[in-house]
Amino acid sequence: MAKPTVLVTRHLPDGVEARLAGMFDARLNNADEPWSGNGAEILRRVAESGATGLLCAAGDALNAQTIGALPEHLRIIATFSVGTDHIDLEAARSRGIVVTNTPDVLSFATAEIAFTLMLMAARRAGEGERLVRAGGWTGWAPTQLMGMTLEGKTLGVLGFGRIGRELAQMARGMRMAVHYRNRSRVAPELEQGAVYHDNDEGFLAAIDVLSMHIPGGAATAKWLNAERLALMKAGAMVVNTGRGTTVDDAALVAALRSGHIAAAGLDVYDGEPRVYSGYLPLENVALLPHLGSATVETRQAMGERCIENLAALLIEGRTPPHCVG
Ligand code: DGY
Repeated sequence: MAKPTVLVTRHLPDGVEARLAGMFDARLNNADEPWSGNGAEILRRVAESGATGLLCAAGDALNAQTIGALPEHLRIIATFSVGTDHIDLEAARSRGIVVTNTPDVLSFATAEIAFTLMLMAARRAGEGERLVRAGGWTGWAPTQLMGMTLEGKTLGVLGFGRIGRELAQMARGMRMAVHYRNRSRVAPELEQGAVYHDNDEGFLAAIDVLSMHIPGGAATAKWLNAERLALMKAGAMVVNTGRGTTVDDAALVAALRSGHIAAAGLDVYDGEPRVYSGYLPLENVALLPHLGSATVETRQAMGERCIENLAALLIEGRTPPHCVG
């Protein structure tokens, strides 16, 4: 039997590409960047290849118009991400196209980056690194680059899913208290003593560090706005490893400039790879290039998830294990 054709939009780790090539008629791509013209180019290549499967990634814009124009032969979109805000799920559903993602396997790695950013922000590590590299360090000084210790502080996790809960676990190791805000309260065994808040006001007033783990999309757009920032304690910090669209950049920059928010750590940006220009001159913000899931182990595991999903539908004829929408 002929192998199903799968169009792959990005260059993936070698081990993942080798497995794809073994199991499918895989049309691999060695570009790390999204194709120019993105949606239109994806459409063209799906049509040209006759692909029944599309393996895409965050940043590949599959909006309602693009999905509406996909050829009939395309049966599954397997995204190499846990986030699906780049895919119009409703449009895919109405076209009968299955969408799958890669949950669980990136939770620890993404929490590690949230933790890294929390420490960078609290301990002014980026500032210190820049000072040394610029040759501006004149020696140890009692008052130089004093940050905030995390021990005894309260971490506020916005979105207490798998990633948020991994971060909570790490924070307990730093002897931090954990509070969380979520659509609903989670089971006690998942809470592990974390304090649930059913409203933003109480949550934001109680915490010293806000770590954001909510999905992108219209419902969460600019969630962290001027009003919510004003509810936070003076001198609190903000970390975002979820989606950049959930932050009102102008409002956060204003709060960082005034000192109301002491520091921030960001891994994701609205319109990335463009970064809101207001952040660039600020010393009190650590900026990373969307590294959440970027470990060798995690990227391999994400690839395995994609392969599992594609094979389930296209080879075994069953519902893929990680369907979304
Ligand atoms: C995800 O998996 O959603 C990460 O943000 C990488 O895209």
